[in-house]
Amino acid sequence: MFDNPAMLVQKNVPLQALNTFHIIARAQALARIAHEADVQSLLAAPEWADQPKFVLGGGSNIVLTGDVKPLVLKVEVKGRQLVGETAKAFIVQAGAGENWHEFVAWTLAQGYPGLENLALIPGTVGASPVQNIGAYGVELQDRFDSLDAIDLRTGQLFTLNAAQCAFGYRDSVFKHSSEANKNKGYKAIGLKNSALILRVRFALPKRWKPVLGYADLDKKMAQCGCNQPTAQQLFDWVCEIRRAKLPNPDLIGNAGSFFKNPTVSTEQCEDIIARDPKVVHYLLADGSVKLAAGWLIDACGWRGKSVGQAGVYEKQALVLVNRGAVDGSNGATGGEVMTLAKAIQTSVYERFGLLLETEPVVV
Ligand code: EPU
Repeated sequence: MFDNPAMLVQKNVPLQALNTFHIIARAQALARIAHEADVQSLLAAPEWADQPKFVLGGGSNIVLTGDVKPLVLKVEVKGRQLVGETAKAFIVQAGAGENWHEFVAWTLAQGYPGLENLALIPGTVGASPVQNIGAYGVELQDRFDSLDAIDLRTGQLFTLNAAQCAFGYRDSVFKHSSEANKNKGYKAIGLKNSALILRVRFALPKRWKPVLGYADLDKKMAQCGCNQPTAQQLFDWVCEIRRAKLPNPDLIGNAGSFFKNPTVSTEQCEDIIARDPKVVHYLLADGSVKLAAGWLIDACGWRGKSVGQAGVYEKQALVLVNRGAVDGSNGATGGEVMTLAKAIQTSVYERFGLLLETEPVVV
């Protein structure tokens, strides 16, 4: 903990090792936040109090398109522990700066299953509620209890429950700014870059049941001949599946899925099926239809293609990659990544009449 904010802030900091796309960019100023008091001492310093701020977790869901002018707050709050229990669940808390995958492995080792389907997702615990991470039939909101955050204008601590986080598909109150909501003409509190998540609590079910029903997991079950896998087995399978189709950001720069899977009405889906009957789609409980964006991009011939050093991953067209080295040399610029993304959006729109929404935060 630093009382002197000057010791907290570094100037002109290279960011290529702090973003999983490994794009070269610099932060004009960066402060490492290990405790809430670090934020409070920055807010007490006239130089930093009113400066716009950008909260950085594991950097696994961002595209840097230039140097970052706002003060970067690199979240490094640590700690993992059981903090309570209810009749139905263990309440487990983790510091926002903990690595997500290591936290999932730790919960299993402690005997608190429930997060295994979310194994191997890059990033930090603090970023997990921001985009309501999800995989293989489980979303963060299914296991979420509450979180503690700090207001970046006032230094006040506050706690949010699931309803207050306004979770949606890869979405939460932390992805929206109040201004944007004001412009849309409705009253809603957006917390983008105006709050920093410090700790997240998860409710992990005492009567654990495996979440199955995904084709990739069904295949694994058939291979091992077991229909009641343990949480550890599921964890191992999810890791194997992800390793087989998703690039490891330590070896190939990327930010996971670059686009969201679009949801359409049954009428729109029929129109798309008329354009290509093979379109991969899933009926949702509310009657709408989810389309596989990876399939749509693949069908437009983008798999393996590049713009400069930004490319479409060979094994999963939903993932854009940096074809340069992980030290950032000879790598893609954020501009190349966004040019590629826009070209993909245009061709999917022209062929299927659908505008794909991007998933990462463009900085
Ligand atoms: N597909 C293709 N070609 C491709 C890619 C996919 O035909 O190049 C087809 C696949 O064959 C499959 C379908 O599209 O039939 C769906 O593919 P996949 O099972 O890989 O899942 P996804 O819908 O592409 C989503 C999440 C992933 C998550 C997986 C598993 C989004 C945006 N992505 O991907 O999340 O791991 O499901 O649950 O919802 C992430 O958000 O970064 C992420 C990796």
